[in-house]
Amino acid sequence: MASHSAPVGAGIDWEARYIASDTPWDKGAAHPALIDHLKKQPITGNVLVPGCGVGHDVRALAENPALSVLGMDIAPTALRLAQSSPRVGNESYLKGDFLAGDAVEVGSFDVIFEHTCFCAIPPIRRKDYVKSASDALRSGGLLLAVFFTNPENTDPSSPPFRCEMNEIRDLFSEDFEFLEADELISTFKERMGRETFCLLRKKTL
Ligand SMILES: C[S@@+](CC[C@H](N)C(=O)[O-])C[C@H]1O[C@@H](n2cnc3c(N)ncnc32)[C@H](O)[C@@H]1O
Repeated sequence: MASHSAPVGAGIDWEARYIASDTPWDKGAAHPALIDHLKKQPITGNVLVPGCGVGHDVRALAENPALSVLGMDIAPTALRLAQSSPRVGNESYLKGDFLAGDAVEVGSFDVIFEHTCFCAIPPIRRKDYVKSASDALRSGGLLLAVFFTNPENTDPSSPPFRCEMNEIRDLFSEDFEFLEADELISTFKERMGRETFCLLRKKTL
């Protein structure tokens, strides 16, 4: 992902990026680590993909008829592009602000799949992200996440925002238990060795 210009903590105009087709994060395919995981450990139930962009991961998940998949994004143009792709299964899309708790309004999810949403949000909003993910999942629900733990971008004022595993563990450990954390994953060529695939389970309160 190329860096975007915005001060730390400021909102990025994601909609403008989609309108301008300036979306270098979009690799035109679902994340390879998601595909690998689904082959090894199939999931069931209803799945949320926050910050779904044009929906590659949503469609990869929805190819399994056992899943109902909701893609959420704040950028209407991304969602229009997502909806213009041929339908593959039980997928749907909703404009919403994940950090504001909009997913919780929809219901309780069995699984959340995260890919380049957490790294896109300003670091000062990370606790809001964790709360939104926890609130949107049922007890025992799973968070499958490809965290961008070591992005090439070294500009701390623009996304993708680096977040190393020790910070991720600190942020998520109160609400989630870590079942897996794997750096040796299939990924896109330019992201080799820069991501960590995590499987987290929401704690039963
Ligand atoms: C770097 S892009 C990644 C998109 C997609 N996951 C992909 O890999 O192609 C980040 C996405 O998160 C969306 N986004 C940013 N903040 C959001 C928020 N608070 N709620 C929902 N979506 C958000 C943006 O509109 C954008 O589509």
